[in-house]
Amino acid sequence: MAVLSVLLTACSSEKTYKIGVSQCGSGQWREKVNREMLAAQHLYERNVRVTIACAYDDTEQQIRQIDSLVESGIDLLVVAPNEAAPIVEAISKVRQLGIPVIYFDRKASTDDYTAFIGASNVEVGRIMGDFALQVAGDLPDKEGKPLVMEITGAMSTSPAQERHNGFSTAMARHDELQYVCKEADWTSEEACRMTEEQIRTGQVPDVVFCHNDGMATGVYKAAVEADMEDRIKIMGIDGLPGEGIEYVQFGHQVGTYIYPTHGEKIVRLALDILTGKPYERENTLQGMIVTEKDVNIVDLNSREQMKQNNDLITIQDKLEDSLVLYDTQHKILIASLATIILLVVAIVMIWRAYVQTRKAIRQRQTMNEEQTLFYTDASNRKLHDIFQQADDDLPPPRSQDMLFAEQLNDAIRKHMSNPNLKMDDLGEEIGMGRVQLYRKVKAVTGQTPVELLRQMRLQRAYALLTSTTKTVAEIAFEVGFNTPGYFSKCFREQYGKLPMDLRQEDIAH
Ligand code: FRU
Repeated sequence: MAVLSVLLTACSSEKTYKIGVSQCGSGQWREKVNREMLAAQHLYERNVRVTIACAYDDTEQQIRQIDSLVESGIDLLVVAPNEAAPIVEAISKVRQLGIPVIYFDRKASTDDYTAFIGASNVEVGRIMGDFALQVAGDLPDKEGKPLVMEITGAMSTSPAQERHNGFSTAMARHDELQYVCKEADWTSEEACRMTEEQIRTGQVPDVVFCHNDGMATGVYKAAVEADMEDRIKIMGIDGLPGEGIEYVQFGHQVGTYIYPTHGEKIVRLALDILTGKPYERENTLQGMIVTEKDVNIVDLNSREQMKQNNDLITIQDKLEDSLVLYDTQHKILIASLATIILLVVAIVMIWRAYVQTRKAIRQRQTMNEEQTLFYTDASNRKLHDIFQQADDDLPPPRSQDMLFAEQLNDAIRKHMSNPNLKMDDLGEEIGMGRVQLYRKVKAVTGQTPVELLRQMRLQRAYALLTSTTKTVAEIAFEVGFNTPGYFSKCFREQYGKLPMDLRQEDIAH
């Protein structure tokens, strides 16, 4: 059993930490971070399972998804809230259940969270503000102050609020510029519409800062339509290869900011929290601005990094397949081992039972043989042998019993021919009460005194039939049977043949 429990312990694998990720939306930037988190599942010292839900910019849906992630038994929630305020209640519920919550990229309007990881969006806004100033300063001389336009993401989200804080602070320090800010909703369509509107006012923006590269494409579209793509300088945030980086390479944008993803750092932080390791509550990820000057090298690096990440995911998928296979094989192995052990135990037990039974049968046989020998003529030899051993100072086995048997044997043989012989008479002869005699005979021979008497009569008859010429009738009376017919019947029961047949067989030999 101990071995089995060890095997079962070996079977139950190490704990897997379940991390639930609630993404506010989709898009390339989120897909990149999702891939990085998935790739990090097998990166660290503990088993991690990352489950990602996407709310497609719908706060209600995100709240429902958080509930189902919790119901599915997650150990920790990573959340990028679609909107900062309406999600507070859902997050508080998670916290009340004792589940740690990591804000990632976006924050909710509550301080009740375990840790935050992401860029400092105020800083990002400030850096882009400085860059906008620099771009405006480099513009060819024109009449009046250059116009800088900011197009924000939805202001119900924390990055939009913070980016705007940083950017507007940078703008406020410079009165050589005009600055307008419009709120959009992170989409290219909305940014396009707003730019068109602005151009229609006659106040064409010289520099447009969008809170993401997606919106920057909308601005570019409007600029192209107004044939002003060379005049309007556009900048965005996210800096993904194939997106912002490419727009800079094409010259559609003057710059972008690589908004850091680092899914692997999110998983690391989650694991530190879950395993009780020390961790920082605020974890700021560093990004960087990319302009026409360095875009090609950044593009190369980013593509290489993304390729490596994809390779990692491929390796991981294969690893997972192998792990599933290994797990199945492991379970089969453990089950087989357990079966083999149980079989061996069963065989040993059956073998022991068999050996014991055989021993008991042999003992019984020996006892019967001894009795038979003892109660027939041959028994004298046996007794003689035993007493001979006693002479040699060997402890006579069961000497008490032998003595008793000898006395009983003598008594029975003496009175055997009396058909009315009672056991009471025998008891008297050897100085024992009826009950005592019954018990002793039963203990030594396994038979009742009546059975023993009958058996000895028949054994004596057997001996007389084979060693004398006395008739069957004479022998029957001599051993104490009332009638030869009853004697023959009993004899056949005992030896399987009639006394007459035995006599004839004996003569034949
Ligand atoms: C993607 C996105 C990015 C932006 C970030 C802010 O969902 O809109 O474009 O930088 O979210 O949270």
